[in-house]
Amino acid sequence: MVSRLSFLLVCVLVSSSFVQKPGVSSKPTSVKTLKSADELPSSLDWSNNNGVSYLTIPRNTHVPQFCEGVWAFVATTTISDRFKVLFNASFPDIILAPQVLLSCDYASNGCTSGDFLTAYQYIYTNAITDETCEVYQGKGYTDGLNCTNFFPCYTCSPDGTCAVPPTYPMYNITGYEMISGVTQMLNALQNGPISCGMQATQVFFNYTNGIIMNTSTGNVTLNHAVEIIGYGTQNGVNYWKARNFWGTYWGNGGYFMIQQGTNAYGIEQYCAYGDPNPNIIIVNSTSDIKPEPHHHHPHHKKEIEKIDSTVKKILAGSERQPEYPMKYGRVPKVFFENGERIIGKRSWETIDIQAVPAAWDWRNVNNTNFLTFTRNQHVPVYCGSCWAHGTTSSLADRINILHGGSFPVLSLSPQVIINCHAGGTCNGGNPGGVYEFAHSHGIPDDTCQQYIAKNPSHYSCSAIQVCETCTGPVGSQTCTAVSNPKLWYASQYGKVSGAANMKAEIYKNGPIGCGIEATEQLENYTGGIFSQFIPYPRINHEVAVVGWGSENGEDYWIVRNSWGTFWGERGFFRLKMNSDNLGITLDCDWGIPDLNR
Ligand SMILES: *[C@@H]1O[C@H](CO)[C@@H](O)[C@H](O)[C@H]1NC(C)=O
Ligand SMILES: *[C@@H]1O[C@H](CO)[C@@H](O)[C@H](O)[C@H]1NC(C)=O
Ligand SMILES: *[C@@H]1O[C@H](CO)[C@@H](O)[C@H](O)[C@H]1NC(C)=O
Ligand SMILES: *[C@@H]1O[C@H](CO)[C@@H](O)[C@H](O)[C@H]1NC(C)=O
Ligand SMILES: *[C@@H]1O[C@H](CO)[C@@H](O)[C@H](O)[C@H]1NC(C)=O
Ligand SMILES: *[C@@H]1O[C@H](CO)[C@@H](O)[C@H](O)[C@H]1NC(C)=O
Ligand SMILES: *[C@@H]1O[C@H](CO)[C@@H](O)[C@H](O)[C@H]1NC(C)=O
Ligand SMILES: *[C@@H]1O[C@H](CO)[C@@H](O)[C@H](O)[C@H]1NC(C)=O
Ligand SMILES: *[C@@H]1O[C@H](CO)[C@@H](O)[C@H](O)[C@H]1NC(C)=O
Repeated sequence: MVSRLSFLLVCVLVSSSFVQKPGVSSKPTSVKTLKSADELPSSLDWSNNNGVSYLTIPRNTHVPQFCEGVWAFVATTTISDRFKVLFNASFPDIILAPQVLLSCDYASNGCTSGDFLTAYQYIYTNAITDETCEVYQGKGYTDGLNCTNFFPCYTCSPDGTCAVPPTYPMYNITGYEMISGVTQMLNALQNGPISCGMQATQVFFNYTNGIIMNTSTGNVTLNHAVEIIGYGTQNGVNYWKARNFWGTYWGNGGYFMIQQGTNAYGIEQYCAYGDPNPNIIIVNSTSDIKPEPHHHHPHHKKEIEKIDSTVKKILAGSERQPEYPMKYGRVPKVFFENGERIIGKRSWETIDIQAVPAAWDWRNVNNTNFLTFTRNQHVPVYCGSCWAHGTTSSLADRINILHGGSFPVLSLSPQVIINCHAGGTCNGGNPGGVYEFAHSHGIPDDTCQQYIAKNPSHYSCSAIQVCETCTGPVGSQTCTAVSNPKLWYASQYGKVSGAANMKAEIYKNGPIGCGIEATEQLENYTGGIFSQFIPYPRINHEVAVVGWGSENGEDYWIVRNSWGTFWGERGFFRLKMNSDNLGITLDCDWGIPDLNR
C-alpha cells in the first residue's frame, strides 16, 4: 500500500507540464534601462496596489479535465493582468483564452507540456481571442481538440450549429522578453506581473501558507510555471508573491510566497513578460478571406428541443403558455419555491427615489469597475443557461461591491448551478432557484467547476459535482472531490419590477437579474440604444441590469448579456428604459450576498 502510494507520487513528480523550448527570440519591450533594487519600491503587490487589485480571475488547469497546460495559462493570465494594469483596472477585465494556445501553438505540445515563451511568441505573431470565443476545455491538439475553422472564435445556436461571429476582438503584445535574476525580475514587475518557470515538488503540492524556503543544495529541473505578482519582506526574509493555476482551493486561495534571492526551486532562472498592445484588433470575419466554417452538430442537439420536467412544472404553474418556445432558456416568471426571503425592508422602501442619481453604471463608480468578467453561455456548445448566468454574475458583482472592489475578483460557477439542478438545466430554467440554492447550499467559484455548457449525466449535488480536481496522466485521468471548498451564500432574495424600484435596488445593492423577450433583432444588435415594440412581451431570456443613463434625451438601461464580448457593446447592450424595452421592467430578481457565512 505504502509503496504503491509513493509510486503514484513519483508519477506526479516526474510529469512535467513545463519544458523549455529552444530558439524563441525576444522582441523589444518597454523596459530599456535597469534600475538597482534600492532605486525601486521595497515592496509591490499587484493584488493590492493602493487598495486596487490588478489581477483577473483565478484559474484551474485541472478542470474540466486534467491538462498539463499551465504554460498557456501563465502566459494568458500574465498578459490579461498586464492589460488590467495598462487600462488602470477600468472596465472590462480581459480574459485571454489559453485554449487557443493549447490547440494552435504548435511550438508547444498542447496538454502534454509546453513553454510560456512560445505562447508569448504566438500572441505576438497571431494575436489571441478571449475566453468567450474559446472557453477552456482541458484538451489540446495533442489530444483531439485541433485548431479548426472554429479557432480563434465561435459561438453556438439553439439549433445546435456553431459559427464564427461576424466580428470579434483580438489582443496582442508589442514585444516580449525572456529575463532571469532578481534585478531583471524586479524591474519587469514594475509594469505588471511576470511569468516564471519553477520546480514543483511535494513541498509545493502540500503548500498552504508562509514562505517556501530554498532547501535545495544543487541543480533544479524546471517542471512547472507560475505568475509572479509582487515581492516584499516578511520577518527579514525577502519573498516573491505568486499565483498558481490549480484553483482557489490550492495553497493560500491559489497564491503562495517563495524566497527571493536564492533561486529557490529555480524561480529566478527562466521568466518572461510581454507588453500588451492597447490597440484592440477587431476582426471582421465576413470580410476576411477564410474557409467557409463547416457547421458541426453537438451531441446534445436533441436535448435542446425537449423541455426539462421541472421547468415544465414551473411553466404549467405560471400564467404563460407552457408550450412557449424555450429558445433562449428562461421561464416566463421568477419563481421561488418557498417565497421571497426578505429581512427588514426592501431597498426601495428605504431610499428616497429623488436621491437616486440620473445616471449610474457599476462598470465605473468612483473610478472603479465592480463587474466580474463577461461570459458566453453558448461555448463550447449551445446551452440555455441564461437564467444561471444573469443571476451568478449579479451575485458575484455584488460580492465585489461589498468588498469595495478589492482583491479577489471572483466568478461564481454556473456549471455547479446546472450540476445541482438549482433552477433548471441547459434546456432552460428559473432564476429563483439560483438564489434559493445560494441561500441553502452556497455557490463555489469557477475554479471548482469549469463551465462546460452541458447537463451532467446525473443531476446531483454530490461533493464531486460541486468541486473537483483531476490528476493525470492526460488521457487516463482521475477526478476527485475537493472537500470544503469556499462557498458564497445569499442571505436574502426577492423580486423587483418597475423602473423606479429597479433603480433603487441597483443603486443600493448592485446589479439585478431581469427577464426579457429576446428576439432575432436583439441577436443582431451591434450597438446603440435598442428598442423594439412588442405588444405583450413573453419573457424567454435572462440578463443583468447594471445601471442606466441618458443619451440625447433618451433614457436607457445598461444591460449585461451572456453571449460573449464580441456581441453588442463588448457583451453589453443599452435598452430603451420605459417602453419598447422587451419587457425588462416586468420581472427582475436580486439576492444579497452573505459574507459572514
Ligand atoms: C489533430 O492534430 C494532430 C497533430 O497535428 C493530428 O495528429 C491529428 O490527426 C489531428 N486530429 C484531427 C481529428 O484532425
Ligand atoms: C500586433 O501588434 C503589432 C504592434 O506591435 C502590430 O504591428 C501587429 O500587426 C499586430 N498583430 C496582429 C496579428 O494584428
Ligand atoms: C505532503 O503531504 C503528504 C500527505 O499529507 C505527506 O505524506 C508528505 O509527507 C508531505 N510531504 C512533504 C514534503 O511535506
Ligand atoms: C539555494 O539553492 C541553490 C540551488 O538552486 C543552492 O545552490 C544554494 O546553496 C541554496 N541556497 C541557500 C541559501 O539555501
Ligand atoms: C544544471 O544541470 C545542467 C544539466 O545537468 C547543467 O547544464 C547546468 O549548468 C546546471 N546548472 C547549474 C546552475 O549548476
Ligand atoms: C465586415 O465586412 C463586410 C464585407 O466587407 C462589410 O459589408 C461589413 O459592413 C463589415 N462589418 C463591420 C462590422 O465592419
Ligand atoms: C464612492 O465615493 C463616495 C464618496 O467618497 C462614497 O461615499 C461611496 O460609498 C463610494 N461608493 C462606492 C460604491 O464605493
Ligand atoms: C488610475 O486610477 C486611480 C484610482 O482611481 C486614479 O487615482 C489614477 O489617476 C488613475 N490613473 C490613470 C492614469 O488613469
Ligand atoms: C439578423 O441577421 C441575419 C444575418 O445577417 C439576417 O438573416 C436576419 O434577417 C436578421 N434579422 C433581423 C430581424 O434583422
